Amino acid sequence: MATLVSDPLVSRRTADFVSQDHRIYIDGRFVAAASGKTFPVYNPATGDVITHVPEAEEEDVNRAVLAARRAFDDGPWTRMSPSGRGRLLWKLGDLLEQHLEEFAEIESLDNGKPFSVARVADVPLAVDMFRYMAGWATKISGKTLPLSSGYDFHSYTLREPIGVVAQIIPWNFPLLMAAWKLAPALACGCTVILKLAEQTPLSGLRLAQLIDEAGFPPGVVNILTGYGEGVGAPLAAHNLVDKVAFTGSTEVGKLIIRAAAGNLKKVSLELGGKSPVLVFPDANIDEAISGTSSAIFFNHGQCCCAGSRLYVHEKVFDRVVEGVSHVASDIRLAPGLDPSCQMGPLVSEEQYQKVVSYIESGIAEGANIAAGGPVSGVERGYFVRPTVLTNTNPRMKVVQEEIFGPVVCAVPFTDEDLERIIKRANDTVYGLAASVWTQNVSLAHKVARGLRAGTVWVNCHNVFDASLPFGGYKQSGWGREMGEEVLHNYTELKAVTVAL
Ligand code: NAI
Ligand code: MG
Repeated sequence: MATLVSDPLVSRRTADFVSQDHRIYIDGRFVAAASGKTFPVYNPATGDVITHVPEAEEEDVNRAVLAARRAFDDGPWTRMSPSGRGRLLWKLGDLLEQHLEEFAEIESLDNGKPFSVARVADVPLAVDMFRYMAGWATKISGKTLPLSSGYDFHSYTLREPIGVVAQIIPWNFPLLMAAWKLAPALACGCTVILKLAEQTPLSGLRLAQLIDEAGFPPGVVNILTGYGEGVGAPLAAHNLVDKVAFTGSTEVGKLIIRAAAGNLKKVSLELGGKSPVLVFPDANIDEAISGTSSAIFFNHGQCCCAGSRLYVHEKVFDRVVEGVSHVASDIRLAPGLDPSCQMGPLVSEEQYQKVVSYIESGIAEGANIAAGGPVSGVERGYFVRPTVLTNTNPRMKVVQEEIFGPVVCAVPFTDEDLERIIKRANDTVYGLAASVWTQNVSLAHKVARGLRAGTVWVNCHNVFDASLPFGGYKQSGWGREMGEEVLHNYTELKAVTVAL
């Protein structure tokens, strides 16, 4: 195991946190896994093991579910006023903000992303999510409804918490995904068992300490580290869990649905994507070049909404592809904590192998490399060069499947009718996001309407806000995260009718 204390890129504070004896958080206590087992955590910039965390399994899942059940069924959480819940969420946001730099460092070390990005994106967005949802806690309400039957009735709806919620998150934005999940569930009055991604457990374990410090009652939030089979699967199948919220691969999303069938628990899913980016010839081309580059290269392409299919009008195709290739070639690869880093390593050896093999399959199927390629030239760590592929065709794996790495397929289109262009953009099993680049207002809105996707950006990409609902059409998921919409994920609606 590498000692972080001697790594010049890692602060003493983070080295101390990472090397502490990590515990899972159940019923307001920090405990080891029942089996005593642990598993390794890696630094993706070096491939070194930097610490171990508890490997929770079914027994730990049962304990956490029972704690959440008690906190919901007869605990203080359901008796607490909405403003009390809101104040706790706000306090958690404040605590997180006070530790912003520390969280950015942990995130960069564990996930590989640049510290500079975690500091301005991941952590502040997580803070904002807790604050935004703190405000909703007091604004969740039903309606009164006029009935048309002959008798005199008074009818109204109550929007009530759904109950005990299992939440399973991935590794691409570890802290932010935890915030997207926890904040709305808690605002609604649910209790939670959160399963962190096995690749990136550290920021969530640090967050557990802040949740404890903020003063959430025991059992309201329980946080587990472990693998999909050991923790995720028993949570999704558990009879005492009322709802499971999942973010990750479409493949595992389908397993979750099957597991949830046992007690018909409610399910929401935020899954994969293969998001199209459409550049029309009247777009501001310089802005389109930088914007479409960051659409795919932000977070090393490890975004469910990464703009991985770049459709460009033939009149500006060469200019845009050259521009994006230029951006790609200039990106400096370095460990996330290195101040010169513009792109860090991918999260894991598994993702590295997967992305490189996609690039190789593209080449084997006849694609050309305009920038990047399968060899990064970096000796250690899971680095992949940002890569631009041309000369692809719609049936290639690189065009159809989610790569989840910094790899974009650029495809020209002609002055054919708009319907056909939109049809091609919609031609995948996914429907998460898309962006359109043009100065023509009516064209932008027409395309936005035609795209079968949960998010459409115009002259921008990857814009997130706690107020904007986010989620997928087709096989990109069920339900929406964030905004007012997410409250539906965590509430049941009750109709009450009184004969007067
Ligand atoms: P995954 O879907 O296997 O993992 C996501 C979470 O689900 C993790 O916490 C994992 O432990 C858990 N999990 C795994 N198997 C489970 C099961 N049977 N039951 C319940 N929970 C389970 O994703 P993975 O393996 O990390 O990445 C594979 C691919 O998935 C990526 O290459 C990417 O294409 C896609 N992905 C999509 C994400 C998104 O934001 N939509 C995020 C991460 C990955
Ligand atoms: Mg997996």
